[in-house]
Amino acid sequence: MDKKVHLAVVGAGSWGPNLIRNFYNLKSCQIDYLVDSDEKARKKISSQYPQIEIKSQLSEILDDPKLQAVAIATSAPSHYDLALQVLSSGKDLYVEKPLTLKSYQAEKLNKLASDKNLIIMVGHLLMYHPGVIYLKQIIEKGELGDIYYIYTTRVNLGKVRDQENALWSFAPHDLSIILYLLDETPTEVVSTGAAFLNPGVEDVVFTSLKFKSGKTAHVHVSWLDPHKIRKTTVVGSKKMAVFDDAAPGENLRIYDKGVDYQPGMADYQGSLTLRIGDIYIPKIPAGEPLKNECLHFLDCVQNRKNPKSDGINGLNVVKILQAATQSLRDHGKPINI
Ligand SMILES: NC(=O)c1ccc[n+]([C@@H]2O[C@H](COP(=O)([O-])OP(=O)(O)OC[C@H]3O[C@@H](n4cnc5c(N)ncnc54)[C@H](O)[C@@H]3O)[C@@H](O)[C@H]2O)c1
Repeated sequence: MDKKVHLAVVGAGSWGPNLIRNFYNLKSCQIDYLVDSDEKARKKISSQYPQIEIKSQLSEILDDPKLQAVAIATSAPSHYDLALQVLSSGKDLYVEKPLTLKSYQAEKLNKLASDKNLIIMVGHLLMYHPGVIYLKQIIEKGELGDIYYIYTTRVNLGKVRDQENALWSFAPHDLSIILYLLDETPTEVVSTGAAFLNPGVEDVVFTSLKFKSGKTAHVHVSWLDPHKIRKTTVVGSKKMAVFDDAAPGENLRIYDKGVDYQPGMADYQGSLTLRIGDIYIPKIPAGEPLKNECLHFLDCVQNRKNPKSDGINGLNVVKILQAATQSLRDHGKPINI
């Protein structure tokens, strides 16, 4: 029996070729088709991968009974229509972040997938980063104590987009990390930002999240910044940790720092003592997050498992992005989710 997952990739712009390279090199996958509406993109892939059949429209391939799954790496506004076609034709779906632009669309896709017993996996890449997985494990073991708050910074001087703002472009990564680490969805979102380069397309966005448990989180994204920073800082009652995606080999630092409470002291201020201990860099097994993500998708397709970044996880991220957009448009008004 053929054990390979027969896959099509849609979209070979900037990011799609990374998915193609990874899926192509995995033994459990065979890429049967690449679909792209742009001739230049099609030519690029056909010269690099002559074995892959190249098409210009998704509808040309969905009747193929051999095809099991489709991976979508087109720009965000096209995700919903393409994803709907994929699920309607009975194929499993991988879709790049963000799942859709509207939460009702993500809900509809989830319902369709559930009715047809199909898989939706969203490309929340950092949930497959060994450093983030390690961080999640030590949080679950209680090593950091109770988590107080998380803040993330994803800034650089980079590709300026003219439709999708910095929030929709970058924040899905940070939001998916926050939801994964806290295992909780926020109840309130506040977002402010500014568009300097293209009217109406924010270059910098600051978003704050409140959770029912009292935890908070903050996400700073920008493509108009002198620094290249991709960091997540987690502050707990026992320890603190920093995940730095731009520091290969030392992605995670755990700080034995905190404020201890000494019971029985007369005055409250006097009973708080600072603890400044060691900084530890754990050895984390290497592994390309994108390869891990692709392997996970293939495993889910073959063994009918629910992906870690499933359609519900994708929906939760879209709900936050949508609320943040509403807050942005309303000058930072708090929006309940
Ligand atoms: N996981 C990550 O780290 C990461 C990084 C970058 C981009 N992305 C995501 O990948 C997706 C693509 O981003 P990009 O920067 O490669 O975009 P892009 O605009 O460079 O490429 C999109 C490609 O899709 C094709 N396309 C668009 N609509 C189509 C349609 N209806 N049918 C067939 N082809 C179509 C375009 O011709 C183009 O070649 C986005 O969702 C983005 O958020 C993820």
